Amino acid sequence: MDMSRRKFLQVCGLGVMGVAGAGVLAGCDNGGETTPADDSNTSEPTANNEKPVIFFNRQPSNSTTGELDMATLNYNDNTYYVGFDATQGGDLQGEMVLTYIKAHAAELDRNGDGIIGYVLAVGDIGHNDSIARTRGTRKSLGTGVEVDGAINSEPVGTNTDGSSTIVQDAKITADDGKEYTVRELASQEMKNQAGATWDAATAGNALTSWASSFGDQIDVVVSNNDGMGMSMFNAWSKDNNVPTFGYDANSDAVAAIAEGYAGTISQNPAVQAYLTLRLIRNILDGVDINTGIATEDEAGNVISADDYVYSEDERSYYAMNLAVTADNYQDFMDSTTLYATAQSQLDESSSPNKKVWLDIYNAADNFLSSTYQPLLEKYDDLLNLTVEYIGGDGQTESNITNRLGNPGEYDAFAINMVKTDNGASYTSLLG
Ligand code: BGC
Ligand code: CA
Repeated sequence: MDMSRRKFLQVCGLGVMGVAGAGVLAGCDNGGETTPADDSNTSEPTANNEKPVIFFNRQPSNSTTGELDMATLNYNDNTYYVGFDATQGGDLQGEMVLTYIKAHAAELDRNGDGIIGYVLAVGDIGHNDSIARTRGTRKSLGTGVEVDGAINSEPVGTNTDGSSTIVQDAKITADDGKEYTVRELASQEMKNQAGATWDAATAGNALTSWASSFGDQIDVVVSNNDGMGMSMFNAWSKDNNVPTFGYDANSDAVAAIAEGYAGTISQNPAVQAYLTLRLIRNILDGVDINTGIATEDEAGNVISADDYVYSEDERSYYAMNLAVTADNYQDFMDSTTLYATAQSQLDESSSPNKKVWLDIYNAADNFLSSTYQPLLEKYDDLLNLTVEYIGGDGQTESNITNRLGNPGEYDAFAINMVKTDNGASYTSLLG
């Protein structure tokens, strides 16, 4: 006898004794085949403010100081954040760029002035992932300047003469033994006029305009994500053979490695998409939170300890990042591939269908729309969750929160904020 049937018979027994409500008795009439409407032994609906709330991709935090918003992360006992290790990822991106420059310095220095010049596309100056990537690049290349114990992550605007105080010129010794200067020639937050950040079109235009004023100084292009990186690659660097680095390992960017895109970072999106929905599943099933994550579930799903960390203090699960370059890109061609050991369908009798409200802050975000959401859509089936996907405009929180008119219709919420500061805009709707 499986779990739910055993539970069902228990509930029926109570019903006969006159304790359970009429709804449960009606279920008993049906030859024991009906799943009880409510899987806890009570007919009281769960209050909205007790339901699972999973933030993902944008961690509740202060967009100026980066400090975590623990009030939101502790909204209720069923609140978590799912993302990836931003510092490890930023550092990995920086090391990937440095390794490339050292190996190719002589051919990279297009104007032969002994300076390797790079430009940097910043996604969102207040987004902790964006900050970590800017810092990781500056740290590895040696161009970072510390302010209050951390590398300054502000954009420089333009710095073609090396006079900026936000960054500094660095010296590196290339693999051929020659010394070069590395300079951040320009960097800018890629925000469009309507206010959307990480904006790919803005990044392509910025590179075109930088190239027209100091193009022969640009030897390397670095971007905080692939959406902007690919736009820059297509606008200028591909035709000019200038190596371009991004982040996210979206399928189009990985495919472009064959055409000269220099590298990207996979933020292990399958692990993140799985965790986003799996935590909800576990909470709703009333099982240990790490079922099918740290410990294998009955269907055989499990995530290797190498691929994520959980921080109890921060109520956060972080996936680990992997570098994707010409050496290994063949293994990353489809960014929507499920995690190798988390692909098994859950049994509907022990994990019955539930409804989830989930939003994506900007329906036009390349990573979220081409990688994360397709993975979520595969996992929602495997986990027996019916997910309503809401796509925002990337600019205003209310465009999304206005569409959570009736939270009582859902069993759980998965939230991707426009701005990391705005956790309370969502939780306040749940009471
Ligand atoms: C991704 C970006 C994305 C951003 C949205 C980041 O983690 O790498 O590509 O645009 O999240 O918040
Ligand atoms: Ca040069």
